[in-house]
Amino acid sequence: MDKKKALIHLQNLSFAYPHAKQNALNGIDCKIFTHESVAIVGPNGAGKSTLANHLMGILLAQSGSVVIDEILVRPANIGYVRDMVGLVFQNPNDQLFCPTVREEIEFGLINMKLPSREIHDRVTESADIMNIGHLLKKPAHHLSGGEKKRVAIGAILAMRPKILIMDEPTANLDPYNEKVLTDLINSLSCTKIIISHDLPVLFQTCQRALVMVDGQIIRDFSMQEFMDDQDLILEHGLDFRFKCKCCKAIHPERFS
Ligand SMILES: Nc1ncnc2c1ncn2[C@@H]1O[C@H](COP(=O)(O)OP(=O)(O)OP(=O)(O)O)[C@@H](O)[C@H]1O
Ligand SMILES: [Mg+2]
Repeated sequence: MDKKKALIHLQNLSFAYPHAKQNALNGIDCKIFTHESVAIVGPNGAGKSTLANHLMGILLAQSGSVVIDEILVRPANIGYVRDMVGLVFQNPNDQLFCPTVREEIEFGLINMKLPSREIHDRVTESADIMNIGHLLKKPAHHLSGGEKKRVAIGAILAMRPKILIMDEPTANLDPYNEKVLTDLINSLSCTKIIISHDLPVLFQTCQRALVMVDGQIIRDFSMQEFMDDQDLILEHGLDFRFKCKCCKAIHPERFS
């Protein structure tokens, strides 16, 4: 019998968007444990972001259940869930709404009722980590795509969630900031769920891979097993070898 307590426990979770012909999530069963670093991969439309929204209580299970730290995700418990879980949205425009970047980072911290000194220190720390200190006075909607993404990540990091979910965190980041983020993810000890099509980054940051197709988790295994399963990777359009070929073509001696 599995006696280890799951931090996240999904049981037969299904969900359909209004007027959709088929379910976006279709009978998901999964347990994620404290301090795990889990990749969620799958083709466009597989249901990855829909699943992330259920872990935050932004969407609610239509059948089955989502349990976070033994608390059922339902309207009465949303406050508790939001204290535990931080979600970096796939599209930063869905996340950022404050007049300035500083207020964006402060927003969650004020909601947590932290003292003003602590809020100030956390904003400074987050801005340093994400290299956005020079943007603090700017409105988020005046930033570039990559800058917005870094602000969105910084705002969530500042809250120090016990469960950190990042939906396409490296999208729009330049290579330098992608490396900074990869190192940062590896330095965090919280439970991490990274949704991405960037398999090299996932390989660097995650030990376990959940493969989603058509609203189902079709495979749940180690990152190494996933990377070794070329048939699965090819079948679901996740092959990234052409990027390796490009690197080799540019500098054969450096990428041999
Ligand atoms: N707001 C919405 N209303 C209706 N249907 C939606 C909505 N958001 C997503 N869908 C549909 O639900 C399914 C799952 O979408 P989801 O965004 O979860 O996929 P995803 O795996 O995150 O894809 P991607 O890799 O493109 O980010 C898709 O068929 C999509 O068209
Ligand atoms: Mg998505």
